[in-house]
Amino acid sequence: MSFIINEKVTWVGKIDWELRNFHGFEYSVDKGSSYNSYLVRDEKTVLIDTVWEPYAEEFIKNLKKEIDLNEIDYIIANHAEIDHSGALPALMREIPDTPIYCTANGVKSLKGHFHENWNFVTVKTGDTLSIGENDLVFIEARMLHWPDSMFTYMTNDNILFSNDAFGQHYASEYMYNDLVDPGELYSEAIKYYANILNPFSPLVERKIDEVLKLEVPVDMICTSHGIIWREDPLQIVEQYRTWANAYQENQITLIYDTMWEGTRRMAEAIAQGIKDVDRGVNIKLYNMSKTDKNDVMTEVFKSKAVLLGSPTINGSILTSMAATVDLMRGLKFKNKKAAAFGTYGWSGESVKVLTEHLDKAGFEIVADGIREMWNPDEAALDRCREYGRNFVKSL
Ligand code: FEO
Repeated sequence: MSFIINEKVTWVGKIDWELRNFHGFEYSVDKGSSYNSYLVRDEKTVLIDTVWEPYAEEFIKNLKKEIDLNEIDYIIANHAEIDHSGALPALMREIPDTPIYCTANGVKSLKGHFHENWNFVTVKTGDTLSIGENDLVFIEARMLHWPDSMFTYMTNDNILFSNDAFGQHYASEYMYNDLVDPGELYSEAIKYYANILNPFSPLVERKIDEVLKLEVPVDMICTSHGIIWREDPLQIVEQYRTWANAYQENQITLIYDTMWEGTRRMAEAIAQGIKDVDRGVNIKLYNMSKTDKNDVMTEVFKSKAVLLGSPTINGSILTSMAATVDLMRGLKFKNKKAAAFGTYGWSGESVKVLTEHLDKAGFEIVADGIREMWNPDEAALDRCREYGRNFVKSL
């Protein structure tokens, strides 16, 4: 499959409807994804990025329907990660001398992955490759989200090839933002931002400002995953700026795991207390052993405050919550308040352990945690309701 984007640009990637996990099993994919590769035909012919290795053979076969591979003058590797570079070895076996334009860090990553001494041409921000009527201008996007990441801007047609930035793991046969369900698109775009780009938010803001200062027109943003932004393409840039700036909504999220339902009942009572005081706030509860971790991280990203709960086990917390706090630390959420809760039988360390993790992860601890012994009775649940009321008042 391929499709024409405009007179000069053709999409030659792969829509992967079957994908359910990405980055190993670190990122859940509900709606498939795509690996977007673009063929630019001007006086010179350029291929921008490839696809994930399992689809390399299919990619080359389809590309050959579009063009004699020997007519490709330049390859641009905006990003060396395997989902975009995986078909390079197969392609380079066919056209071994073709120059590959990428950043210096891109060379390191590509050599690290494939151990090949291809004809690399290193580029940096502002370097330009003239291909005929259009020029391709390179813009390094270091740590968005790898050291090698880069954008390529095509003049005249005003297309920004942004690679991972502004993308989504979202398969569609239609491939344009104006042709897909906007709610689905938004939820996949925010999940992608929260789980992949959020740790680099300060750099996102700076890069957006840098690109906007260039004052170049952008008629289309061709990402490397999911749909192409062609209707009001800068809407996703503005959205990224909002997300990058310590984003929060009026939401409190309670995230817990439970052994014999005591910590769950505490969570529900705390939620009731919050609701007693604030009917406007969105309150969400998630049992981590039953919920997708990336969906929960998206909810943390949207929250102004979180409450983490675990019973005490072996002097610590349940393993699902241990994984959760580590994920929350790594994603570097900003501008969020927090506290902890949990049941215990004797030693009762879980609340202290959770609170310490939250503090180290950069959350502002606004209240001492609450712990209840054994199975919470009505008096204990009343204390939890009161705790919820006080918690929301402290925000
Ligand atoms: Fe889609 Fe960072 O690779």
